[in-house]
Amino acid sequence: MEILSTLEDIKKRCSELKKQGKTIALVPTMGFLHAGHVSLITKARQLADIVVVSRFVNPTQFAPTEDLDAYPNDPERDHSMTANAGTDILFEPPAAAMYYADHATWVEVPELAKGLCGITRPTHFRGVCTVVTKLFNLIQPDFACFGEKDYQQLTIIRRMVRDLNMPVEIVGCPLVREEDGLAMSSRNAYLTKEERALAPHIRKGLLHLQDMAKQGECSAQKLYAAFAEYIADNIPAARIDYVSMVDEDSLAPLETLKDRAVVAVAVYLGKARLLDNILISK
Ligand code: PAJ
Repeated sequence: MEILSTLEDIKKRCSELKKQGKTIALVPTMGFLHAGHVSLITKARQLADIVVVSRFVNPTQFAPTEDLDAYPNDPERDHSMTANAGTDILFEPPAAAMYYADHATWVEVPELAKGLCGITRPTHFRGVCTVVTKLFNLIQPDFACFGEKDYQQLTIIRRMVRDLNMPVEIVGCPLVREEDGLAMSSRNAYLTKEERALAPHIRKGLLHLQDMAKQGECSAQKLYAAFAEYIADNIPAARIDYVSMVDEDSLAPLETLKDRAVVAVAVYLGKARLLDNILISK
C-alpha cells in the first residue's frame, strides 16, 4: 500500500493511473477504522482496479463546540486495517494541507441538509459536501463508496453528484453492526462500559417500530412516542436528539407510513451522539 499525503502527489498519481486506463474506487473516511469502513473497502475492491482510501478528519464539518479535537485517532491500526483490506493508496493529508487559509467556496444541498442531523448540526453537511467534492476533484474516482449508516449523508452526496453532473458513481453500502446490534461507529469509543452495554437498545427500539408497522401502525407521531418510551424505559440516561420518519429518497418528513419509509434517529448517550436508521414497511 502506497501512502500519500500531499495534494500534488495524490493528484499526479491518480491522473497517471487514469491515463493508463485504470478505474479507481474511493472510500472517504475520517480514520479510526472499524469493520464498517472495511466493508466499504471490500466493496471498492470488487468495483475497480485501484482502491484509494482517504483518511482525513475534516475540520469544516465540525462546529466549534463539537468533538474535532477529541476525535479518536490510531494511525498505525488504520494503516494495517486499510492495507489488509486491499487498499492500493492511502491518502492522508495533514489538516493544514487540505484547505487554504482563505478558503471561500462551499458546496451545499440545503433542501436535504435542513432536517434530521441538520437541525443540531446546521453547517455539517456543507463541510461534508465540500470535502467530498475536493476529494473527487483530486482523485477522479469512477466509484465512491458510502455507508447507509449515515443515511442522510449518503442521500445528500447522491443528490450533489446528480445535480452537479459529477462523473462518479455513488455506491451505498449496508450498515455494519456489532454482534449485539449496535451500529458500528468510531464514536462508540466515547461510551463508558455501562453506556456501551445499554447502547444496543437504540437498534432494539427501531426494530420495535418495524414490528408496530407490520401490525398496522402508520402514524409517525405514534411511532415516535413508542421509540421515546422504549428509550426512556431501557436507557434512562439517553436523550433523543431526533426520531424522524422520512421518504427514503427526498428525506421529506412523513406523517403517515404509506409503503416504505426510513426511520432515522440520533441519540445522545454520555459523550457520544449515536446514529441509527431502519427501512420500515407495512
Ligand atoms: P466516517 O464517519 O469515518 O465514515 C466513513 C464512511 O464509513 C462513511 O461512508 C460512513 O457512512 C461509513 N460507515 C461508518 N460506519 C459504518 C457502519 N457501521 N456500517 C457501514 N458503513 C459505515 O462519514 C464520514 O467519515 C465523513 O463525513 C466523510 C464522508 C469521510 C467526509 O469527511
